[in-house]
Amino acid sequence: MTEYRTGPGDSLSAEAFYLFNELLDQKFGLTFPENRHMILEARLRPRVRELHLTSFMDYYYTLLADGEEETMKLATLVTNNETYFFREKYQFDTLFHEGLATLKSDLAVPGQLRILCAGCSSGEEPFTMSFLAADEYRFLAAMEPRINAFDIDRTRIEAARRGVFRPRSFREMTEEQINRYLIPAANGNCRIKSRYHGAVTFGQGNIIDVSTFKDTNPYDVVFCRNVLIYFSENALRLAIENFAEVLRPGGVLFLGPSESIIGMSSRFETIRLGDCIAYRRVGN
Ligand SMILES: C[S@@+](CC[C@H](N)C(=O)[O-])C[C@H]1O[C@@H](n2cnc3c(N)ncnc32)[C@H](O)[C@@H]1O
Repeated sequence: MTEYRTGPGDSLSAEAFYLFNELLDQKFGLTFPENRHMILEARLRPRVRELHLTSFMDYYYTLLADGEEETMKLATLVTNNETYFFREKYQFDTLFHEGLATLKSDLAVPGQLRILCAGCSSGEEPFTMSFLAADEYRFLAAMEPRINAFDIDRTRIEAARRGVFRPRSFREMTEEQINRYLIPAANGNCRIKSRYHGAVTFGQGNIIDVSTFKDTNPYDVVFCRNVLIYFSENALRLAIENFAEVLRPGGVLFLGPSESIIGMSSRFETIRLGDCIAYRRVGN
């Protein structure tokens, strides 16, 4: 009997698409709806070729057999890492104005504002908070802002630690902001000034596995923006539970403007803070 196999020059079969989706959900919480079939195929194909495999299914079996190392490479292939400095700045303004008014009386660690940035990509989001805390909101210095940031994609975490960024990352910054926060580097890139590194630490972690990002002390604020839109419904529920676990009661969760968890969890209540919708952790 002839065995039909899908070569990497061919398409990702419906069966392989299903199996990869199941694996991506299980490992990272990610899901590719049917209308993104071609996108998943295009992201996997270079790795199938690089490994000299003859089919997408062979790559699937390689992932099952090889464990963590190849799975981490898969994370790099399938994630959308789009980010830039000052993205949706109004959310940070809201945190440092209206948010602080409700948060500051009951900080998890007295005298310290503890922020977690989940799905931070190459760091533009936590570095923006660091810029604002050091300059626009100087009164925050008295609260020692601490920003712990993590991402599943280790290549992004390495990039964040290097602190060198391409123009795409600072496209929303004014000339004045660029001069204030960045130093020119080779090839039109820019480096973060060292004084803005101090408040931020980076690590690799997985939103659907709380043990990879839980710290000794709880957080006052969690930012998880433009990440959960790519999650399956189960993973989204798990993420909410995990954020509830690391936030102190009364702590606040900010999501991206197109994301919502309204009505999804009894552990958060929806609140209006300035121009933002955010979610306050309820209970003990
Ligand atoms: C579109 S970027 C958003 C970056 C930033 N939060 C922003 O809004 O600019 C999404 C990031 O989420 C990360 N990500 C996806 N699934 C994740 C998971 N299970 N755990 C941690 N990070 C994840 C991706 O690697 C990617 O860097």
